[in-house]
Amino acid sequence: MDVIEIIGGKPLKGKVRISGSKNAALPILASTLLTNSKVRLTNIPDLSDIFSMIELLKSLNVKIYKKNNYYTFKSDTPKSLIASYELVRKMRASFLIIGPLLSRYGYAKVSLPGGCAIGTRPVDLHLDGLKKMGASFSIKNGYVHGSVKGKLKGTSINFKKKSVGATENLIMAATLAEGKTIIHNAAQEPEIDDLCNFLIQIGAKIKGHGTDLVTIDGVNELNGGEFEVMPDRIEAGTFALSVLGCSGDLILTGVNNQIYKHLKDIFKPIKFLKLKIIDDKSFSVVKVKDGELNLKVTTKEYPGFPTDLQAQLTAALLKIQGLNEINEKIFENRFMHVGELRRMGAKIRKKGSKVEITGVKEIYGAELMATDLRASSCLIIAGLMAKGKTIINRVYHLDRGYENIEEKLKACGAKIDRIKK
Ligand code: EPZ
Repeated sequence: MDVIEIIGGKPLKGKVRISGSKNAALPILASTLLTNSKVRLTNIPDLSDIFSMIELLKSLNVKIYKKNNYYTFKSDTPKSLIASYELVRKMRASFLIIGPLLSRYGYAKVSLPGGCAIGTRPVDLHLDGLKKMGASFSIKNGYVHGSVKGKLKGTSINFKKKSVGATENLIMAATLAEGKTIIHNAAQEPEIDDLCNFLIQIGAKIKGHGTDLVTIDGVNELNGGEFEVMPDRIEAGTFALSVLGCSGDLILTGVNNQIYKHLKDIFKPIKFLKLKIIDDKSFSVVKVKDGELNLKVTTKEYPGFPTDLQAQLTAALLKIQGLNEINEKIFENRFMHVGELRRMGAKIRKKGSKVEITGVKEIYGAELMATDLRASSCLIIAGLMAKGKTIINRVYHLDRGYENIEEKLKACGAKIDRIKK
């Protein structure tokens, strides 16, 4: 079990290349099940969640090859339409294959994804939407058995709450359904827009993607094509927040204008963190001075402040003078990092769905335990800010969503190493 060792207290200065987006790549990989033509994808990050999805797709008879920095996918008729517990338990996004399988083959048996450290993570919105399209489900021994008589039928779906995964599953299912599907109150995360751009590239008929009203006209079959996955906006936001915590200045490359505008917008209240565009693929992040902050941030669906940056913001605020409040409104238990930060001397009060951070002069290195993906990056930021040595255990959580983060930080002056245990 690797550990990450950090000697904190140094400002960050240098260039970071942002990798392809995990949360765009995962649904796009799942959607390769929708076509039996060859698909070529680039900018897919080397992450354990991606390797889990590739293993799952291979078990469903998708031929997958990697050459240099691109992958080729060819989905032949699967011998079995079962996504085993063994594979799904590793990554809940595996549930994104149920829409494509039902739409293409009319049957799917997928292990019900369990909850995880940040919440129960139900899939009722996915199943209710697919039922409205004509699928029927039974749940037995922890598996969802889904089947369709004939083809899924286009219909109007109105989500009672926004869900990224449910929106993605329904859009993928609707591409091969009979007739038109209209999705109201669709989630609007850029990763969904990227999925739709890929699906359109291989012949899907989708309108309104990127808004909360998406229309899909089903087609008989989809074709092949090539596509470059968008950059990872959460990785970019994580590095920007590490500058808030550690001071210094970074140049982020491999990004795009949408990510620059989104981060500039959500970080606007942090008046001394300045983002400045360099060109259409890079921007700089500088902490221009120290000062007091009294933020009240609430996590929201896109374009609001993303829940996936909540833990990283918490860490970055620990030594900022003032009283800052973060309200986590998307997941019910996304504060597993708070206990670990307190052990470093952080002053954080938890009140229901809120945390209140009182800035302290110093935090101190400690031996810590990562509990989930974004909590891991939060602990890294805290370790970079702390006086002394921090050791982070269970870094397998980190490897799910950050590609070589310790190498990227080391290149910016951080004293950080991965120790193989
Ligand atoms: C996606 O998860 C992301 N994962 C998450 O990123 C992200 O935190 C989340 O969206 C919110 O932005 C991927 O894209 C692979 P949701 P997803 O369905 O689709 C409830 C990371 O760190 N809900 O939008 O699972 C749910 O419990 C990960 O990269 C239902 O009630 O999120 C949650 O409270 C973590 N019923 C809320 O909706 C459902 O059927 C939002 O969940 C589905 C969801």
